[in-house]
Amino acid sequence: MSNLNQEHGKEAYIGPEAVLEKRKHYFFPCTHHFYKKPPQIVRGEMQYLYDDEGNKYVDFFAGVSVVACGHCNEQITAKTIEQLQTLQHTTTIYLTQPMVDLAERLANGILPGKLKRTFFCNSGSEANEGAMLLARLYTKRRDFIALEHGLHGRTYLTMGVTGIPMWRSDDYLDTGVTFIPRPYDPELDDEVAARHSLEALREVLAAKGDTIAAMIVEPIQGNGGMITPPDWYFREVKMLLERYGVLLIADEIQTGFGRTGKMFAMDHYGVVPDIISMAKALGNGVPIGAFATTDEIAASFNRPSASTFGGNPVSAVTALAVLDYIENEGLVERAEMVGGRLLNGLRVLQEKHSLIADVRGKGFMCGAELRGTDAQESAALTDAVLEKMKDRGYIIGKNGTGRNVLAFQPPIIMPSEDVNAMLNTLDDVLTAIEAEGC
Ligand SMILES: Cc1ncc(COP(=O)(O)O)c(C=O)c1O
Repeated sequence: MSNLNQEHGKEAYIGPEAVLEKRKHYFFPCTHHFYKKPPQIVRGEMQYLYDDEGNKYVDFFAGVSVVACGHCNEQITAKTIEQLQTLQHTTTIYLTQPMVDLAERLANGILPGKLKRTFFCNSGSEANEGAMLLARLYTKRRDFIALEHGLHGRTYLTMGVTGIPMWRSDDYLDTGVTFIPRPYDPELDDEVAARHSLEALREVLAAKGDTIAAMIVEPIQGNGGMITPPDWYFREVKMLLERYGVLLIADEIQTGFGRTGKMFAMDHYGVVPDIISMAKALGNGVPIGAFATTDEIAASFNRPSASTFGGNPVSAVTALAVLDYIENEGLVERAEMVGGRLLNGLRVLQEKHSLIADVRGKGFMCGAELRGTDAQESAALTDAVLEKMKDRGYIIGKNGTGRNVLAFQPPIIMPSEDVNAMLNTLDDVLTAIEAEGC
C-alpha cells in the first residue's frame, strides 16, 4: 500500500478499473479518456500529479492548458479557501466587490488596447457564445466566418463555428457560418498556406461581407494541432475585416494569460481584436469564463442579461490571485524563455527522429506532429508515445485533426530541469518505438 493511501485511508480510493466501470454505467458514451491503462489521479502539487498508488507524474498538459500557475498552488488556493469560508455566492444582482475588482484589474494592464469592459461567465464555451451574441448585437448582422479545424465550444453557436468534424456533435448546426482554410496545409509552405487563407477571406468578404458579424479565431489553434500562423497573418486579417465592418473575436481560451510568452497570443501579431474571450488559466482550475470589449461595442449589449454564477466571489477572488501570481512570478517571461527551450528541444528531436514530421508553437504551447505510413498509424503511434511517456512518469497531451500531435502545454512554472528530463525520456521512447513499433 502506498504512503498516499495510508495518509488518506485506502477505502477512499476505488482504483482506476472501478472508476472506468462507473464511467461505463453512469456517464454518456460521448465522454472519452486517454490511455489503455489510465491512472486514477488523486493529488496535484504544482507541476506534479500523483495517482492512487503514489506514482508521481510530471504534468505537461495542465488539464488542457488550465493550471498555468501549478496544481493546487497554495498562494492561490489560500485566497480561494478564505473566500469560500466568507461569502460563496450571491449573483450579480447584489453588490460584491471581487467581480468589479477583477474587471478593473483586467482593464488596467491586462487587456490590450481599449478593451476595458468584461462580462463574466463560467466556461470557454459560454465566453465565446457571449462574444458572438455581442458581435451580432453591435453589427446587427447574423453570420460568422471561422477557420477550418478551429475549436470554439460545445454550445449551439460555438459548435457551429467549430471546424473540427469530431467536435461537431450536432447534426442541425447553424448554417450561417462560412469556414475558410486555416493558415496551414501540410502540403504547402506555411507562408503560401497563409496567403491562401487570406485570399479565401477576401473572397468571402467581397461576396457577403455585409452579412457577417464577426470572424472568430484562435491565435494558435490548440485542438487543431498547435497551428501557428506567420507573424503578418492576423494583421492582414484584421485590416481586411475592418474594411467590411466585420469584428474580430480572438478566442484566447487556450492561449491567454501568458502561455505563449505574451499575456495574449494576439500580442505576437500586433493585433488588438474587437472582442477577447477568456477562460481556462484565468481560474487555474476554478471555473471561470469571460469576454471583454471596448466601451463602444459593449454599449450595444443593453438588453437584460445575466449569469447566475458569472463573477461569483470565489472565482473572482481566485482569478485576482492568479493574475497576482502571474505578475509576481514573471510567468509571461518564463513561458517565453523556458517554453522556448522546450520548443528548441523538440526541434532537436525532430532532426533525430523521422517520426516527428513537424514542430510548432510559441512559448509553452508546443506541438510535435507524428507521422507514420498513414493516418491510422500516425494516430496509433501518438497513442503509443503517450502511453509509454505516462508509464515513465510524464503526462503529455494530444490533439490535431488526425489526433497525431503531441501537445505540450505544461504549468508555466515548469522548471527547465523537468523540461530537459522529459525531452530525454521522449528521445528514449521514440527510439524504442522506432526500433520495435507500437
Ligand atoms: C480554444 C478553445 N475555445 C473554447 C473552448 C471551450 O471551452 P470550455 O470547454 O471551457 O467550454 C476550448 C476548450 O477546450 C478551447 O480550447
